[in-house]
Amino acid sequence: MALEEFIARYKLSESVYVTRPTMPSREDYLRMLAPVWEQRWLTNEGPLHARLERALAEHMEVAHLSLFCNGTTAMLLALQAMDITEGEVITTPFTFPATAHVIHWNRLTPVFCDIREDTCALDPEAVEAAITPRTRAILGVHTYGFPCDVEALEAIAARRGLRLLYDAAPAFGVRCKGRSILQYGDMSVLSFHATKLFTTAEGGAVATRNADWDRRIRFLKNFGIADEETVIGPGINGKMSELQAAFGLLQLEQVGEEIARRGAVAAVYRERLAGVRGIRLFPEPADATMNHAYFPIRIIAGEYGADRDALNVALRKCNIIARKYYFPLCSHFPCYADLPSADPRRLPVAERMSAEVLCLPIYGTLSPDIAATIADAVASFPDVNETDEQR
Ligand SMILES: Cc1ncc(COP(=O)(O)O)c(C=O)c1O
Repeated sequence: MALEEFIARYKLSESVYVTRPTMPSREDYLRMLAPVWEQRWLTNEGPLHARLERALAEHMEVAHLSLFCNGTTAMLLALQAMDITEGEVITTPFTFPATAHVIHWNRLTPVFCDIREDTCALDPEAVEAAITPRTRAILGVHTYGFPCDVEALEAIAARRGLRLLYDAAPAFGVRCKGRSILQYGDMSVLSFHATKLFTTAEGGAVATRNADWDRRIRFLKNFGIADEETVIGPGINGKMSELQAAFGLLQLEQVGEEIARRGAVAAVYRERLAGVRGIRLFPEPADATMNHAYFPIRIIAGEYGADRDALNVALRKCNIIARKYYFPLCSHFPCYADLPSADPRRLPVAERMSAEVLCLPIYGTLSPDIAATIADAVASFPDVNETDEQR
């Protein structure tokens, strides 16, 4: 098949992006905002903010949950609240830049560690091997919503006296071994960015079972202000507004249905792509319930007959906007590339995943028919009988 024929066969009439936010109806949102207009209470721990904190803590089965303006600030302050002020933090290079940057912004050193092939999460053996006398904490990421190896990491952290923090930005609503994913580790951080399953446009949260850390988090995100005349430390502005909290309360009503709809899209992809030569699907973890926030696939170039990048370019010609999460690795950013732990030879799995993974579009309003077309385009791209350059 010629490339033109491939495009003619699979081109969608409108661009389909990797994700699309669920929105409450405008009427519902305006109704939710009515008290904000009446009371003129826009931010600073307003009533909607309090309602959303309570609702999310209940939904996620955590003792304390503090809302934030975004996930990055939440993660920045989570490290500070645990008093991690010097030394090294072990993390994954296979993540969104914010994970490594919050370590750097706290004047700590990120130590990149390799990941597991089946979940793309930190490899506990590599974590153990990376510990030095300067290590203070482990910052794991539940990449694509696949839970980290929570028990192994917890055992390592306990044995080696380290704090264990999770970047749970991709894992809203995920359950692991019968418990909310946020119950693992010392603290977990969520992002409610527009690209996330649960969104407040911008937003985030820190969850912990430790009341002292929660108290510190609340001071830190409000300039360190204790009362009108007392500032107890150098805090920052990490607050979420009432307008975002209102959006979040309505999102929460929809999130269960959104996950179910995404599950149906994932099922279409799984059915159509299973057994396609050169395509590997990530196994659904047996002990976790997924949120279907992402649908990553691996393209094994030698078997598939083309590499991930060639497929990605061809899909874009068909208005299918997949994403190469996570390319480049954080360890390749100029600000980290000189770290000893950033040496590609130490990160073989992460390097390979970064070259092989493509995240296909997935969101609740994506029709199963479109998902089927996308899957069929992926499956038949190797039939395009042109070289990578011609493609
Ligand atoms: C894994 C991960 N960590 C951190 C963040 C940062 O969150 P935010 O954009 O809310 O600051 C994101 C998403 O944006 C993310 O995907």
